[in-house]
Amino acid sequence: MKLLVTGAAGFIGSAVVRLAIAKGHSVVNLDALTYAACLENVASVADSPLYAFEKADICDREALDRIFATYKPDAVMHLAAESHVDRSIDGPGAFIQTNVTGTYTLLEAARAYWQGVGKPDEFRFHHISTDEVYGSLGPTGQFTEDTPYDPRSPYSASKAASDHLVRAWGETYGLPIVLTNCSNNYGPYHFPEKLVPVVILKALAGEPIPVYGDGANVRDWLFVEDHADALLTVLTKGTLGRSYNIGGENEVSNLELVKMICALLDDRHPKGAPHADLITFVADRPGHDQRYAIDPTRIRTELGWRPSVTVEEGLARTVDWYLENKDWWRALQNRQGVGERLGKA
Ligand SMILES: NC(=O)c1ccc[n+]([C@@H]2O[C@H](COP(=O)([O-])OP(=O)(O)OC[C@H]3O[C@@H](n4cnc5c(N)ncnc54)[C@H](O)[C@@H]3O)[C@@H](O)[C@H]2O)c1
Repeated sequence: MKLLVTGAAGFIGSAVVRLAIAKGHSVVNLDALTYAACLENVASVADSPLYAFEKADICDREALDRIFATYKPDAVMHLAAESHVDRSIDGPGAFIQTNVTGTYTLLEAARAYWQGVGKPDEFRFHHISTDEVYGSLGPTGQFTEDTPYDPRSPYSASKAASDHLVRAWGETYGLPIVLTNCSNNYGPYHFPEKLVPVVILKALAGEPIPVYGDGANVRDWLFVEDHADALLTVLTKGTLGRSYNIGGENEVSNLELVKMICALLDDRHPKGAPHADLITFVADRPGHDQRYAIDPTRIRTELGWRPSVTVEEGLARTVDWYLENKDWWRALQNRQGVGERLGKA
């Protein structure tokens, strides 16, 4: 297939591109190269004849029309977004602009292109979203695809709005859509402002490892390469118009996760051990969702997909990757806001 992947210089999009090219798909990476982007993430495939890059903003309709006309994609995988909850607390405007207006602009460009080539049924607009649209769970229960939306941060509200737009374009204009809502990802090439890399890099530097609140918030952690595999499965086998929840079947509290990373570092980087001594509880994130958990029944039973990696295996691979790729993360540490406490409101 010929795929147009938005946001593919980011964490998850780049994993999608690496996997899609390994599977023989051709890919156009459309990315505005914001603070969160790093073309190094796709360096391993950049010389492939199957790969092309277009620097463009998804709010720029003219650029989008040109890119659709040039590459004539069979499918769009839409990952471009502002993605950091803490930044959405400090500056929600960029989240509304990219996640809502940008998704609207991309939908309109995709619709015009799809109508112009005779509305092929096989075309797909795959919108990649988050489980955070469902809000916060108590100690029990899981999110199904029928859980009502209840977003509680500017980030999750902007993603919920984009999900609604995508569904509306499917219903109203017949645009062939699929959606996915995924739990927290981790793995190689994770931008150094997100929890897992923050813990690794603070521990390596011998600096306090910040844990928000009491660290009891629970997330369902998914290895990014498993997510990329799930996305290509949904794109190629998912039922038109349907949404699929994707989870790791790995519920862990933030504090447990931080301790697991510290233990891996004690083993692999004994200097500074025990790294858990660096754990420091800091003021909680305003409106911090308590628990997310995914019911993966639909993707498992309908598409036969389940994660291949446990959180123990995935974290070990991730820690090893950060130890072996210091040049990658060192180059990103001087980007604006990285290493600072953001989102205190
Ligand atoms: N990270 C997670 O745990 C997670 C979980 C579920 C869903 N998601 C969703 O997956 C997608 C990718 O997340 P990520 O963690 O890889 O994000 P990321 O922040 O690492 O990457 C986002 C990419 O989008 C690009 N981008 C931002 N604004 C743009 C614009 N206006 N035009 C074009 N490109 C733009 C950035 O340059 C960057 O390369 C997002 O839609 C996010 O909501 C993420």
